[in-house]
Formats: sequence, C-alpha cells, structure tokens
Amino acid sequence: MVNEKLQKIREEAAAQIQNAKDLDALNQIRVSVLGKKGELKQIMNTMKDLPKEDRPAFGQMVNEARKAVEEKLEEAKERMEEEALKRKLAFEKIDVTLPARKHPIGHAHPNTSVLDEVQRIFVGMGFSVVEGPEIEKDYYNFEALNIPANHPAKDEQDTFYITKDILLRTQTSPVQVREMEKGQLPIRMIAPGRVFRADEVDATHSPSFHQIEGMVIDKGITMSDLKGTLQQFVQELFGKDTRVKFRPHHFPFTEPSAEMDVSCFKCGGKGCRFCKGEGWIEILGCGMVHPKVLAMSGIDPNVYSGFAFGIGLERITLLKDEIDDMRLLYENDIRFLDQF
Ligand code: DAH
Repeated sequence: MVNEKLQKIREEAAAQIQNAKDLDALNQIRVSVLGKKGELKQIMNTMKDLPKEDRPAFGQMVNEARKAVEEKLEEAKERMEEEALKRKLAFEKIDVTLPARKHPIGHAHPNTSVLDEVQRIFVGMGFSVVEGPEIEKDYYNFEALNIPANHPAKDEQDTFYITKDILLRTQTSPVQVREMEKGQLPIRMIAPGRVFRADEVDATHSPSFHQIEGMVIDKGITMSDLKGTLQQFVQELFGKDTRVKFRPHHFPFTEPSAEMDVSCFKCGGKGCRFCKGEGWIEILGCGMVHPKVLAMSGIDPNVYSGFAFGIGLERITLLKDEIDDMRLLYENDIRFLDQF
C-alpha cells in the first residue's frame, strides 16, 4: 500500500518537474512534496502507527522517495540555469566580426589638391608662393600690364568695376607688378588666387575662378628657360612622357607670347575623345615679359629679362579628374566630391 502511494508521489512529482516552466514552479513542487506539510511528511507521520520492526524499512522507503524527488528537482534546476545562461550569452553576444561604424572624414577639394600639387612642383624648382589682393586697382590689373585704355578686356561687360579705378581683378597677372615693384631681384614666384569676370555661368565659364600666375626675372633669362621650366612642370604634373608645343599668341604684357599645349595624357597624342581628336590640349598662356612692363615697374629691361605664365586652375582640375562641367566644382555636392 505505502509502496504504491510513494510510487505515485514520485511519478506525479516527476511529471510536474518535467512540465515546470521556471525555478519558481520547481520551488512550489519542492514545498508541496518535500515541505513541512508536504506529501512525504504526511506519509512519514503515519510511521508511528506501524509496529516497531516495520518502521526502519518504512523510513528507508520514504527516504528513497525523497532522494529521488530531490535529484529530479536538482537536475531540472541545473538544466534551467544552463538554458538561462545560454539565452543570456546568445542575447548579449558581441560579434567582433561586424564591420565597424565608419566616421566619414572629408578630404581636400579637387581644386585644392591640384593647386597643392602645382605649388609643390614649383616650390621644388625654387619658386616662392605669393598672393595679391582680389580687389585691385585698375593700374595693376590693366595699365601696368600694358593693357591700353581701349582694350576690350576693360569693357564693363567683361569686368566687375567697383569704381572707375577699382575692380575685382580679372587675372592674377597684377601680382607680377606688385612683386616687381618691391624691387628685390631676382624674382621666381607663383601667385595662385581667385579672379573675376562678368561671364555667364556655363560648363566652361564662371564669374569667379582661379589662376596660377608665374614669373621669373633675372639677368639673362631667355625663352629656353621658359620652355624648360614649363616642360619640367607638366612632366611632373601629367607624367614624364608629356610633350609640349608652343603656339604663337598675343598678350599685351609679354613679347613674344605663346599658348602652350601638352600632348594628350589620355591617348599620348594619337587623338581621342578627350583631346577632341587633336592629340594636344591647351594648358596655359606664357611669354617673355614685355620690356615696357619691366620698365613701368622700375626694372631696367637692358639688364634684366624674364618670362611669365598664367594657368587656369579649374582647367587643369577638370582635365586631371576628367570632369566635364566646371559647375560641379562649385556646387559642393558631397556625392560628387566624395569620388576624388
Ligand atoms: N593673364 C592671362 C589671362 O588671364 C594669362 C597669362 C598669359 C598670364 C600669359 C601670363 C602670361 O603671365 O605670360 O588670360
């Protein structure tokens, strides 16, 4: 009888333990089976009604049942704790292989990168970098550069005037004059900066863009110095196979004057879409500084001579980075700038 009862308690307890959802449920089972008022205790209380000689065997059976239930409870508890730990570890796991969140960092504007490169090359050849004012006197922008009063460049259509005598410089060439006036010879300078013209905005024009002026003045400077210097420059900028070609041109402040072309650095001169089939790309204006310009700035043209050149910065940037619309350089759209 007792045996059957105990067996039943064990089986029921085992089934309850099996279904227990959590540690709380296990605890309730422990109380109801093993507790002070639990089922086993109640059975134990009936021991005193048994004959003395039967009591040890009875007690042993109850103890066995208690042990069996305790073991089951302990097993279930360990299993639950282990599962809880596994869930916690899975939930809190740090995946060290996940890509890190990137912090976007900026970089120099294409114009700035090209200007840095141009400056690096000329500084390497012993040039110094100087600057002049963007708001300039008519004298420096035109007159001292041998640009006569009736020259078309002086038209109000082409130039932003502030007063009759003050304007936004249309070129960086006035910095030549400002350097010459300092009277410290020889001169070997480049002058990068912003220039302004009353132009409509389109793919190749803007009312504001940048030039890099260059000038060398010393005793005995000749056209071959100009050619050698500029050839060295473009070979460093576009690659050592770059060839140069000078075409006669006219600038009021140089004589003789030329425009310089470089062999197309895309096709090497064979002719392609990039150089519009020409094989050559125009890159800058240059010439030997006009004796009148030297004299106006107080330099004796019988003792000194020099050469000068003017580069359009945007033009070089557009070529180098294969950008086909100048406006992209000014819109500062991050999606565009990100590509460089
Ligand atoms: N100032 C000229 C321009 O804006 C460019 C230029 C040509 C500058 C020849 C020079 C030069 O110094 O020698 O078109």
